[in-house]
Amino acid sequence: MAIGRNKVTVVGAGNVGATTAQRVADAELADVVMVDILEGPPQGKGLDMMEACPVSGSDVNVIGTNDYKDSEGSDVVVITAGLPRKAGMSRDDLLKKNYEIVKVVTEQVVKHSPDSILIVVSNPLDAMVQTAYKVSGFPKERVMGMAGVLDSSRMRTFIAMELKVSVDNIHAFVLGGHGDDMVPLPRYSTVAGIPLPDLLSEERIDAIVQRTRKGGGEIVSYLKTGSAYYAPSASILEMVDAILKDKKKILPTAAYLEGEYGINGFYMGVPAKLGSKGVEEIIEIHLTNDERTALQKSAASVQELVGIIGVG
Ligand code: NAI
Ligand code: 2OP
Repeated sequence: MAIGRNKVTVVGAGNVGATTAQRVADAELADVVMVDILEGPPQGKGLDMMEACPVSGSDVNVIGTNDYKDSEGSDVVVITAGLPRKAGMSRDDLLKKNYEIVKVVTEQVVKHSPDSILIVVSNPLDAMVQTAYKVSGFPKERVMGMAGVLDSSRMRTFIAMELKVSVDNIHAFVLGGHGDDMVPLPRYSTVAGIPLPDLLSEERIDAIVQRTRKGGGEIVSYLKTGSAYYAPSASILEMVDAILKDKKKILPTAAYLEGEYGINGFYMGVPAKLGSKGVEEIIEIHLTNDERTALQKSAASVQELVGIIGVG
């Protein structure tokens, strides 16, 4: 790898991992290493992406590998390794299987990139990022999860579709865990600075909130054999970009809370400032009683999963 360039490792070269690697390479953000347990697919995808670089004009190296040695000294490591839920598998079975995967992956990542910043993507997101935090022993600033950027992007899409305005005009706000009880906040969602409740009826807003909550499932119902990856990888890229460029960008991030929002010792989606140190600040906003209750409910779901795998 060339000296002077940043290095991003993506563990799991499946749909989310490979599209993330491609986006990082296309943006010429960093050299990219994809690690997977499958022999062949990561190598083939890496070479294919490398061969696209002359056309896209991107001077980065991309490789796929089965060996964590190649990931040595990464600045950012994105963990997308995991199993999708299969027929006959309960949510708890999936939780335990992905816990084992994320645990093993994190151990390897830490060994080879002790100074890296981890962005966990594997599901169930909030419990998996807590796993990576506990297993890595990294400071909380250097372990975060991606979900809120995706959930907010879905909400922005639905608002833009409803109002027929540019997505550029829309800011949406989603707090909480990455599950059906996530907490979209219409009061803090704006269109060209105008709060959403000033533009849409309660009924239309409710429909957007519900569609956002079920956004992941909506894509699965079309794809049948897998889940979303274009919007997820775009969301990961925004976080990687904010970190590598030290942008101090406030993004909805699964961050470790120690009293913020009344939650202690768990990862939850909150607005966080991302820069070269990782999660540099958690921004606390005022919540109404209803919003706070919804957040507590979401926290209870995360707490339950974390309890099952014993990483609380
Ligand atoms: P996928 O099945 O296409 O890819 C997963 C990859 O992980 C496979 O290539 C598999 O070989 C690899 N893998 C399995 N065990 C491994 C190990 N021990 N070490 C290294 N690699 C290993 O799945 P996809 O669509 O890429 O999704 C990946 C994960 O991301 C899933 O858990 C999914 O639910 C989650 N996800 C989370 C989102 C979020 O917002 N947080 C959004 C989209 C997906
Ligand atoms: C999603 O929201 C599966 O978590 C993934 O699309």
